[in-house]
Amino acid sequence: MTTTDTTTLTASDLTYLRELVRQRSAIVIDESKSYLLESRLAPVARRNGLGSLTELVARLRTQRSGPLHDLVVDAMTTNETSFFRDLHPWTALEKVWIPELVQKRAAQRTLTFWNAACSSGQEPYSLAMMLRDRFPHIVDSWNIRIIATDLSAEMLGRSAAGRYTQLEVNRGLPAPLLVKHFRRDGQYWQIREQLRGMVEFRSLNLVSTWPFVPQVDVIFLRNVLIYFDLPTKQQILGKVREVLRPDGLLMLGTAETTLNVDDRFERITVDRATAYRPR
Ligand SMILES: C[S@@+](CC[C@H](N)C(=O)[O-])C[C@H]1O[C@@H](n2cnc3c(N)ncnc32)[C@H](O)[C@@H]1O
Repeated sequence: MTTTDTTTLTASDLTYLRELVRQRSAIVIDESKSYLLESRLAPVARRNGLGSLTELVARLRTQRSGPLHDLVVDAMTTNETSFFRDLHPWTALEKVWIPELVQKRAAQRTLTFWNAACSSGQEPYSLAMMLRDRFPHIVDSWNIRIIATDLSAEMLGRSAAGRYTQLEVNRGLPAPLLVKHFRRDGQYWQIREQLRGMVEFRSLNLVSTWPFVPQVDVIFLRNVLIYFDLPTKQQILGKVREVLRPDGLLMLGTAETTLNVDDRFERITVDRATAYRPR
């Protein structure tokens, strides 16, 4: 087995890595977070047979681009997520915002949802569960699309597999939904095909082009803008306005807002939940 020497990287190597990650994903890693580069990239070096982080950087520097560069960027994404994360927006979607959209789209019988940074899939599957359980007539007879995208190939693989540990299903998933929508598979819980089949998973970098994104009714862009600098947030929110229907909804994470970033969105609230709509 190769052991990787985690000796501290030089300032120049750290700058190189920070720039590599920023250019490819827009994720900003502050100098104060350099330790993250070392802790997350040591396993990448090890798995690729490299004896040290210095060797990893030397290998990266030999090419402009390649699979190793992708693995480094993937390792620097933060994938924290859970089922029905933060609960309040899900309650508002179920009780108010989706019923409103269902009324408005009665003629077209089409609703399109986009989970724009889906991580390991808990968010799009939460949506699929809610739609199937609370709006079964719509799921059965309308054209409902849930498009789930992420930059991380590893996370997309996990999302598409739909297999979760006990710890993961313990986070946010009510027991009746676990029993109804998952089956035990050894030490994992496997999402049932009926739900898995409702979600289309695709690779998309928010700072590249969005070639296959159609006009969308609800965009989940939750807990990802926080990793970007202000111009990147503005650029992404500008593109969101192009794909979001005029009466559609943008869902952000609780620590995120369009306020002072792009004031062409208005904030709407239901109880303790917040969403944004183009003005
Ligand atoms: C903290 S997770 C958020 C997951 C989920 N939306 C939630 O709120 O629970 C952030 C996700 O953003 C993805 N991400 C980071 N930079 C990205 C980019 N430039 N394009 C697309 N996805 C990106 C990461 O891979 C990660 O899965």
